[in-house]
Amino acid sequence: MQSNEIRSRFLKFFEHRGHKIIPSASLVPENDPSVLFNTAGMQPLVPYLLGQEHPMGKRIVDVQKCVRTGDLEDIGDNRHFSFFEMMGNWSLGDYFKEDTIKWSYEFLTSKEEGLGLDPKRLYFTIFEGDENAPFDQEAKDLWMSLGVPEHRIYALPAEDNWWSPGDNGPCGPCSEMFYDMTGDVGDLTLEGFIEANKKEDIIEIWNDVFMEYEKENGKVIGKLKQKNVDTGAGLERITAVMQGKKTAYETDLLSGVMNSIKEKAGEKYNERSARIITDHSRSAMFLISDGVIPANKDQGYVLRRLIRRAVMQAHNLGISLKDHFVSNTMLAFVDIYKDNYPEITNSNIFKIISDEEDKFATTLEHGLKEFEKGVDPFILATTYGFPIELTLELAQEKGIKIDVEDFSKKMTEHQKLSQTSSAGMFKGGLANHNEKTIRLHTAHHMLLAALQEVVSPDIKQKGSNITEERLRIDFTCDHKLTDEEKKKVEDLVNEKIKAGLNVVRREMPFIEAEKIGAQMEFGAKYPEVVSVYFIEDEKGSPFSKEFCGGPHVSNTSELGHFKILKEEAVSAGVRRIKAILE
Ligand code: SER
Repeated sequence: MQSNEIRSRFLKFFEHRGHKIIPSASLVPENDPSVLFNTAGMQPLVPYLLGQEHPMGKRIVDVQKCVRTGDLEDIGDNRHFSFFEMMGNWSLGDYFKEDTIKWSYEFLTSKEEGLGLDPKRLYFTIFEGDENAPFDQEAKDLWMSLGVPEHRIYALPAEDNWWSPGDNGPCGPCSEMFYDMTGDVGDLTLEGFIEANKKEDIIEIWNDVFMEYEKENGKVIGKLKQKNVDTGAGLERITAVMQGKKTAYETDLLSGVMNSIKEKAGEKYNERSARIITDHSRSAMFLISDGVIPANKDQGYVLRRLIRRAVMQAHNLGISLKDHFVSNTMLAFVDIYKDNYPEITNSNIFKIISDEEDKFATTLEHGLKEFEKGVDPFILATTYGFPIELTLELAQEKGIKIDVEDFSKKMTEHQKLSQTSSAGMFKGGLANHNEKTIRLHTAHHMLLAALQEVVSPDIKQKGSNITEERLRIDFTCDHKLTDEEKKKVEDLVNEKIKAGLNVVRREMPFIEAEKIGAQMEFGAKYPEVVSVYFIEDEKGSPFSKEFCGGPHVSNTSELGHFKILKEEAVSAGVRRIKAILE
């Protein structure tokens, strides 16, 4: 079954059951600055899950474009894609578990209207219960009423079977469906089930979320006004299942592009590079068609990274940087997707990608000059995005020896740091994101800068905590602040607040941020690319620059009057200040 047929069967199946088909929303969220992209089908529907009336009614079905770029390093394996399509049916305070489960089962197994999958190859999970919600007996009974044997239903904890889009918003227990990719997995114990999933002998194909709860600041705070259903079936995975392939790269969605890369690369072909080019060029196409252009921050930065990573992989395959290989690869996707997404036929897309390819070629040339000056290959890789393969090649041409072992050691350490910290880092260390805390967060940056200016340039931040009422900073300092120092610090912060400084976020390689002396928390670990907040005047002269994920106000004039409440010792050489905005 072709991918087009799968999409249309899904939509029709639910249309026949009273659902209205809605088009995919843009990849860039319209009214939600807290996320860069729609990462799940539910994101554009959040207001309706919270109770606002949807113009199309209470039953909806769609195929939503999604982009997830949190785990770019995983791309190239069988299951991760930076772009994917999520098929979903939605109940906005209408039907609940019974119809959801019945229809999921029917769509999966019906030959006439659905996918016609063999029930003997299906497995199911349900929520095992915790302090927020009980064991989902109802879901279990419903699956069993459809003929699913009890031992094929596995109860799992919240970690696996509680779905929420993040720390805030609608959420709830879920029930997932899995498919045996090999055809002979058979019955499994719970341990066997977990193991088979790891080995990709079985894969998750659909998730039914019973969205009747709400989360705030990472905690479930209670029930929503209405009981909703959010289901998500990844088109890429279902297509792989339907075409008997281990991965979507071998399906009608992606195999054509993979083959043409193979042809072009010839002997230098390697599967991972080809997969990355395929994945990233498709994402670039969809992002640009939704209005994103390459830039140094936010969505534009992600796009730029995708294009550059793809260019580098093309280089790995021996393809010249001058070939515009990524933009040409993208063109091959236009035919595959244009019937479903007419926005990708926009002819600017090719130009935007190929311009970016040219720009990157220039960046690489700069890196080359640095290289000729004898710059460490590690710095070249992290600051200029200069691939080690290229460095090695050039070094060989010029008869220079490169210490590859030293390079790999530094890179491994660097990557380890970026993986462990990227998730936490971008949260920015705040209790929650309401306006009061955001203002205090900006004041916190200003306080650190003022302490360094008034008391000592050696002061370093050792910890921070912000609530709605006050900010708290721990910092290194060898003495109790005098009343005069406290007064001067307060005055300086208030003076800068009045000056109406701009608060500007910039993303840059870690090494560059370190070079310009951006403040980082002592002992914290940071990813390869960091976001830095500058508090600066019109001329761009900074009062403060700090590694931080935000959020912040955009101008200090929004802050009000700053006041230190308390200054005290925490431990030897570490002091603490609590302060407020009035
Ligand atoms: N929101 C759920 C998911 O993304 C179901 O659509 O898996």
